This record gives sequence, C-alpha cells and structure tokens, in this order.
Amino acid sequence: MVDSAVALGRLSLRSPLIAAAGTVGSVYDFADVDAFRVYGAAVAKSVSHAPWPGRLAPRVASAGEGMLNGIGIQNPGIDQWRTDMPDLSALPVPVWGSAAGTDAAEFALVAKGLAAEGVQAIEVNLSCPNLEEGTMFALNPAAAGEVVGAVRAATDLPLGAKLSPNSEDIVAVARAATEAGADFVVLTNTVWGMGIDLETRAPKLSGVVGGYSGPPLKPIALRCVWEVAAALDVPIVGCGGIRSGTDVVEFLMAGASAVELGTVHFAEPRAGKRILRETEAWCRQAGIGSLRELTGMAHGRE
Ligand SMILES: Cc1cc2nc3c(=O)[nH]c(=O)nc-3n(C[C@H](O)[C@H](O)[C@H](O)COP(=O)(O)O)c2cc1C
Repeated sequence: MVDSAVALGRLSLRSPLIAAAGTVGSVYDFADVDAFRVYGAAVAKSVSHAPWPGRLAPRVASAGEGMLNGIGIQNPGIDQWRTDMPDLSALPVPVWGSAAGTDAAEFALVAKGLAAEGVQAIEVNLSCPNLEEGTMFALNPAAAGEVVGAVRAATDLPLGAKLSPNSEDIVAVARAATEAGADFVVLTNTVWGMGIDLETRAPKLSGVVGGYSGPPLKPIALRCVWEVAAALDVPIVGCGGIRSGTDVVEFLMAGASAVELGTVHFAEPRAGKRILRETEAWCRQAGIGSLRELTGMAHGRE
C-alpha cells in the first residue's frame, strides 16, 4: 500500500494530482465523472470581474507533441460564474478557484467572489495581461507581488501564485509572490508559442502567439520547479506536460509536493486514474511507502 496523501502548505490533499485550470471544462461539467475521485483538487477555469469575450477562432491548434491555445481567458465574469456553479461541497473533488484580472484591485474583487462561493483555495493566474505594462504580471516580480498582496488582503484562503516559464528569473517572481503572502507556487503555466498553417499560410491562432502546453513543456516546467525548490522554502505544485506516473515522480523529486494535469485531459479525460496507478506502482517497485517521501529527493544528488 502506497500512501498517496500529500501536504501542500496548510492544505491536505488525498492525492498529489490536481486538475489544471481550463482543462477540465468548468469543473461542474465533470460532477458525475467518477475519475475525479482520484484528484486531490480540481481548479476551475480562470475568472475575471467583468465578462471577458476571449479571442476569435481558431483558438486551439496542435503543434508537434504539444498544443497551442489562445483562448484569451474567455469567461462570464465572477457574478455569472457564481450563479452557474452548483453547490461546490456536492462535487466529488475539492474545487479551487482561479482569479484573473488586469490590475491588483480586480484580482482582489474576484478572490472575494471565489471565497464567497466556497472554493478550497485560490490560484492567482499571473499570466494575465497587466494593463499598465502591456505584458504579463508574471514577468515582473514587483507586479506579481502587488497582485498577490491584494488577493492576500482580500481572503484568508490558501493562495497559490501560478507563474510563467517565460519569466526571466522564476526564482525572483516566486520570492516576490511568497513574500506578498502566497502559500504555494504553481510552476508553471503555458510557454509562449506559435505555429503556421501551411494550407492557409496564416498563423494557426487568431491571436498569433498563444500558450504552448503538453509534453514538450515538461523539461521547462521541471527546470522551474528545480530552481525554485533549490532557492526558496515554499511548497510547489508542478505543472507542464505530465502524462505518466514517472512524470509525476520526476516533478516530486525535483521539489514539488503536488502536480497539475492539463493537456493530457483532452486526449484522455480519465487520465488521472491511470497516472495515479502508475505513480503508486513505481513507488511500490522502488520501495517508497509514501509519495511525500519523494518531494525534493533529487536535490543534493547533482
Ligand atoms: C485550452 C487551455 C485552457 C487553459 N486555461 C487556463 C486558465 O483559464 N487558467 C490558467 O491558469 N491556466 C490555463 N491553462 C494552462 C493549464 O492550466 C496548464 O498550466 C498548462 O496547460 C500546462 O500544463 P499541461 O502541459 O499539463 O497542459 C489552459 C491550458 C489549456 C491547454
């Protein structure tokens, strides 16, 4: 028997697997999917204060082993989101909210709405466009800290800062987010990418540049986890390209306490069951009794 329960700061999760924002429908769509029972949590798609219309089609495209998306964080706004959401306590998995915004005050308003709806934790999606600078909050430690600080002042819930692999210095952004009150960091969101459609001779996405996710992201996200774990004492959720139990083991050994599954859900909506089974099988074979033992195991062996 392998003990799959993990701790993430002050949160206890029954499993290290978390369904990543935007990749499991709106969470409540999956209320009947038994497969959710193997997840420690599921993150709802990011929501802003007012509705965001999102980008025009095409908004997703395949690109090699990965996937491009340029959804533009389409969402109905926090008020409608709350109206649409069923009773969260009736779902088979703890639900986290994901806050989006264009300034710190908007993030704080959204966080208040998410907390009122009864989410277990809040992710702060720092890959949102910062209206002042015209680029992502996640690229600038001060801007990231300002947003996390505003959300921290708005709620006592566990807070995760979701960072970007496009950051020049991921440790500096993680440090700013932690100092501003984040309980954990999520490493990472998608990396910028693009593709050209040879038939139409046009960019594959209407927004030209979008987020690249899936297996090719794994080494990049793993590097982010490694660097932050080596430099800071903050709980980490690894995310990027995970599609097998051994991928999970790698992220835990690099320093993560839990992991998020994203793109794998599009090809295999019930991937969590298989991936947890594979993770536990690896541990049994390696003589590991608890997944918690794996966190950070590779450090000191370089
Ligand atoms: C179609 C799509 C929509 C996404 N929407 C969100 C979102 O609303 N908020 C967010 O923080 N991340 C969003 N993401 C990023 C994922 O949560 C995840 O961080 C990323 O895809 C990397 O993990 P993966 O390689 O396992 O997919 C989205 C990803 C995809 C592919």
